[in-house]
Amino acid sequence: MRIAVIGGTGDLGRGLAVRLAGSYSIIIGSRETARAVKTAEELSTMAKTSIIGLSNEDAAALCDSAIIAIPSLPTYEMLAAIKNRLKGKLVISPVVPMTFENGVFGYALREGSAAERIAGALESRVVAAFHTVPAEKLVSLREELNCDVLAAADKREDYSEASRIISSIKNLRPLYCGGLGNARVLESLTPLLLNAGRQNKIKSPSLKVV
Ligand SMILES: NC(=O)c1ccc[n+]([C@@H]2O[C@H](COP(=O)([O-])OP(=O)(O)OC[C@H]3O[C@@H](n4cnc5c(N)ncnc54)[C@H](OP(=O)(O)O)[C@@H]3O)[C@@H](O)[C@H]2O)c1
Repeated sequence: MRIAVIGGTGDLGRGLAVRLAGSYSIIIGSRETARAVKTAEELSTMAKTSIIGLSNEDAAALCDSAIIAIPSLPTYEMLAAIKNRLKGKLVISPVVPMTFENGVFGYALREGSAAERIAGALESRVVAAFHTVPAEKLVSLREELNCDVLAAADKREDYSEASRIISSIKNLRPLYCGGLGNARVLESLTPLLLNAGRQNKIKSPSLKVV
């Protein structure tokens, strides 16, 4: 199974790609093909397996499932460019629209969530997940993860498909949290965790439900 990481040249995309590469064929997507190719070469060495780099559009066309790992809300134009290529496919959104003002992280949307907006713009099966898994921990393969991944999806079978991807990363436990209407709550956990980390000197805070 081929997973495209749209925006896979960034921090989270690189971390997820290198961790998933043991179980899936990974395609790094970028707005610039050359950047995707360079990142894919670096990650192939780290993961000791072949990862390829393409434009976001070509990555979307070639994959079976995709992860949209770009900062803040993807623009309408960006989603329109990959919409047909991702039609009917599983799309995971870890996207968290955030603000940072006066040393405090906040959730940027007044209503709804990034995942719901992505679902509204695409004709894909969108699952919200990975918001509270720090990129720094993912990309460092020696790091023990031991985190939970809270996930929301309108259809339980879409969550199940995403949960297989999540659990393929050692010590990540997927937890179903209900429909995509809950994505707003999941996404707003990230600024909360980052504030807790900042105020209490916890590096790369993550989440575990006990
Ligand atoms: N970093 C974390 O620890 C973490 C954890 C959980 C969730 N998240 C969420 O995951 C998403 C990605 O985070 P990140 O830290 O990996 O972000 P990032 O490193 O800042 O950016 C990821 C990639 O997105 C692409 N990009 C940048 N601006 C774009 C735009 N306007 N339109 C389309 N593509 C654009 C860039 O790739 P190209 O220039 O190559 O196209 C960039 O390398 C964010 O929504 C974040 O909230 C992050």
